Amino acid sequence: MRPPDPAQVRQFRRRLVRWYRRHGRDLPWRRTRDPYHILVSEVMLQQTQVERVLDYYPQFLRRYPTIESLADASPFEVREAWEGLGYYARARNLHRTAQHVTACHGGQLPADPDTIQTLPGIGRYTAGAVLSFAYGQRAAILDTNAARVLSRVFAVRRGNSKGRWWQLLWELAEVVTPIRGADRFNQAIMDLGATVCRPRAPRCADCPVRACCRSTVV
Ligand code: ADE
Repeated sequence: MRPPDPAQVRQFRRRLVRWYRRHGRDLPWRRTRDPYHILVSEVMLQQTQVERVLDYYPQFLRRYPTIESLADASPFEVREAWEGLGYYARARNLHRTAQHVTACHGGQLPADPDTIQTLPGIGRYTAGAVLSFAYGQRAAILDTNAARVLSRVFAVRRGNSKGRWWQLLWELAEVVTPIRGADRFNQAIMDLGATVCRPRAPRCADCPVRACCRSTVV
């Protein structure tokens, strides 16, 4: 990947974070640093809309407030608690992860990117989310919202290989994620993608990073 222009990167970070302070969504998983609570939210958000997760997240955590309490539940109970969210493989993996972390890591989700990605259902995105949001590390994330923002702002064309494009975007995400405040930056880029830099009809006129965007959408 050709490295992005450092001045563009600085401007992008600054404008994005300033916008997020005023326009970021107030979501319950953004008010905690508990790694397990953050993991639950991110697993739910993998395939479910934010509005729906807002209904299920508090009740799931009331039932299983700690990783140990989830580990102790039966698969049947966990499936029941997940009822309504669908994609039950997520619940099975979350349960297995809770059991493994309780048995082998003293109930602490690993804070190391390679170790955490060995756990069931935790890929590169979820690892980055837990490491940045819970542990305050400089860890990049890339979901479909962040990918859309980065590909537009830094003009990364999709070409004919989706895999190659995704790989380039990960490289870019690693470069643009700031050393300090990666958690805020990651939340901000997801919000910009969800509310302004939408797939269809992006709201470019309201976009805080339009001055440094190389997209040809408009
Ligand atoms: N989608 C995935 N993770 C999210 C988060 N932390 N906030 C909002 N939407 C998300």
